[in-house]
Amino acid sequence: MGTNPKDEILALLGESAEHARYLGELGVETVALTTERTAVAATAALSPLANDTSSERKGNPPLGRQLAPESALFAREPPAQLASQDSLFTGLAPAKPLFARSTETLENIWSDIGDCTRCGLCEGRTQVVNTHGNPKARLMFVGEAPGADEDAQGKPFVGRAGQLLTRMIEAMGMKREDVIIGNVNRCRPPGNRQPTLEEAAICRPFLFREIAAVQPEIIVVMGNTALRNLLEVREGITRVRGQFQDFRGIKVMPTFHPAYLLRDPSKKRETWEDLKKVRDYLDSTARSASQ
Ligand code: URA
Ligand code: URA
Repeated sequence: MGTNPKDEILALLGESAEHARYLGELGVETVALTTERTAVAATAALSPLANDTSSERKGNPPLGRQLAPESALFAREPPAQLASQDSLFTGLAPAKPLFARSTETLENIWSDIGDCTRCGLCEGRTQVVNTHGNPKARLMFVGEAPGADEDAQGKPFVGRAGQLLTRMIEAMGMKREDVIIGNVNRCRPPGNRQPTLEEAAICRPFLFREIAAVQPEIIVVMGNTALRNLLEVREGITRVRGQFQDFRGIKVMPTFHPAYLLRDPSKKRETWEDLKKVRDYLDSTARSASQ
């Protein structure tokens, strides 16, 4: 499946309109029909976004920057099993108990967070950056921690990675206002370093409370920090991406972090495959709800 060039070309043609739209949104101008990364990378390198990436390098380091080798991250966490992998539309009935729907509102949670000083990240931040978006969203995105722009504006994903995220959401046929977007940590780590295990463990319960309040149908975890703070997986994002996972009865799709896509635009193609699965799942559940 997929290895026969004829099948592959037919499949690509079948999807070409939406694929082209996505790539256009993301600044990739031509599509390589042979799936070779070099060809995709070459087309992406010609795109305006590729230029943006190099200009970003001159200024603030991109957020994907400081990642330790995957095995070194979370090394102190106990050995974990890879969560069972659902095929696309199986497992609609969750095996584990649902995240109990909470009666809290997001405002309750944010007032509890307050002007938080529960971890050392408070010392370097300008403000707490809470989850932002539609409290009734069917789809949630989770990243790592605020960067400089988020710290200044008080909203998640408003800098360069955030602008790319907005285009990805729009390529899925949605608007940013339809979804809800948060991070594992709410205060900007100094120099945009990755939050420590302890910092993540202190902040993450607030995200879990928000998830319980919103009850999204799908959570897209972007990058290793989000992946490993929601799921007990040992593998990194490169291995797990594209495969639906389960977080206490809520479907999770792991994919690359948009800051990583700014650094390596050739990975946008795989990210789009992941996001299409999310879009198709949401379409399928909307259809069955209206029947
Ligand atoms: N990167 C993140 O992980 N979160 C943001 O809010 C912005 C950039
Ligand atoms: N490492 C990450 O944390 N995120 C990515 O998207 C890719 C590598």
